[in-house]
Amino acid sequence: MPTKKTSTPKLSARTKRWRKLDALHHLHPFTQTELLNREGVRIITRAKGIYLWDSEGKKLLDGMAGLWCVQVGYGNKDLAQAGCEALRTLPYYNHFFKTANPWTVELAAKLAKLLPQGHTRVLFANSGSEANDTALKLIRYYWNLKGKPEKKIHLSRALSYHGVTMATSSLSGLTPMHGQWDLPFPGFAKVPAPYWYGAKTAGYGDIGEDEFGVAVAREMEKTIREIGPDRIASFSAEPVQGAGGLIIPPSTYWPEVSRICKKYDILLHADEVITGFGRTGEWFGSTTFDLDPDIIVSLGARMGKTIAGADEELVHGYTYSGHPVASAVALKNIEVLERDGIVKRVKKTIGPYFQRRVREIFSNHPLIGEVRGLGLLAAMELVEDKIARCGFPREKNVGLICRDHCFENGLVMRAIRDTMVLSPPLIISEAEVEKMLSKARLCIDLTAADLGVI
Ligand SMILES: Cc1ncc(COP(=O)(O)O)c(C=O)c1O
Repeated sequence: MPTKKTSTPKLSARTKRWRKLDALHHLHPFTQTELLNREGVRIITRAKGIYLWDSEGKKLLDGMAGLWCVQVGYGNKDLAQAGCEALRTLPYYNHFFKTANPWTVELAAKLAKLLPQGHTRVLFANSGSEANDTALKLIRYYWNLKGKPEKKIHLSRALSYHGVTMATSSLSGLTPMHGQWDLPFPGFAKVPAPYWYGAKTAGYGDIGEDEFGVAVAREMEKTIREIGPDRIASFSAEPVQGAGGLIIPPSTYWPEVSRICKKYDILLHADEVITGFGRTGEWFGSTTFDLDPDIIVSLGARMGKTIAGADEELVHGYTYSGHPVASAVALKNIEVLERDGIVKRVKKTIGPYFQRRVREIFSNHPLIGEVRGLGLLAAMELVEDKIARCGFPREKNVGLICRDHCFENGLVMRAIRDTMVLSPPLIISEAEVEKMLSKARLCIDLTAADLGVI
């Protein structure tokens, strides 16, 4: 395996200082601390539009919108102003003790308009993990209120990512998330992911996408029958699986899964942390896939009515949730998305343009087994054997080699195992798409050259 040659440029005094302090005092998420400290962290000091700059002045095109989330780009002045105004006017107050603030109330009402039909009540959290953790609590509470306390098992999928609390790690199907913490907890069961490209190595043979979508849903049904539908509370799923490798289900999958959930009275919990707010060309991925979720951490009709109508206190809430500053910025963020037609643009123009170009540029690349994507999401799966649809041995770290080339060449592209993922800010222009994809092409070519493939 060729090793990547990295030059060691002279670092500025401030970068050296920050690296040292970071190494001494800061633990990073999903990072092997010793390895990072040996290499030295990259300090991001500013950002504008779709670009980041590090403390050495290096400019990076952010092909991942941070962690899938910077929809209107960095440095939007309207958002800064909205946050600043709220900070000056009401820097903090909570929603306990029969209080609320105007920004959070307006935001809840706005969300109720944008969310799928029937979702009229919102419960705020501070992160995706908290939101999903809350969803699990509300699901349990709902079934308790309904007089079905035996419905306690939470179903979710292999390769799913739902967060890092004890419960949401248990819910997540990415198995490396479990060992360190003695998880999953009891009460969590997994069903297969609708990962068609991996179907061949998983023993499904040469099955077509549509047939596979139904087969995977039927496997879920089999698990439900084995456990007993009366014991199953919910099925949690990302409309498109993100951190598991950008898995876009075949078109037959969601209709069949929706049917099964309804048939066995299982609550459908859509995790829209990535697919919410325009990423797939609709406000929510649930709309893209025509889902009728019971909970997104907004409550659909049946859950909303039952929980809001309960004759007792809801014993749940976070000190900082519905923070006035966060609510003001969120409201402005939605206003900008609406005002500038950003979600429509993902559906009608920039999304289709990106999807076309990514396929034109990468479909026949010798290192790429599959290009998949939707809206402003795309993945290129790097494989050793295209016919067998078989990846490289793990220890070759092909994705990480490619990711290193990307950083060297001014692009942030995520490596999920050996799948390279792009999820740029929704404001990206056509010219910027071209720039991003030509950098991505260069870096995948460099990786292929390292591997002796081209
Ligand atoms: C689908 C999904 N759910 C939940 C989470 C967890 O969100 P957070 O990191 O804000 O806790 C993520 C994070 O990327 C995610 O992609």
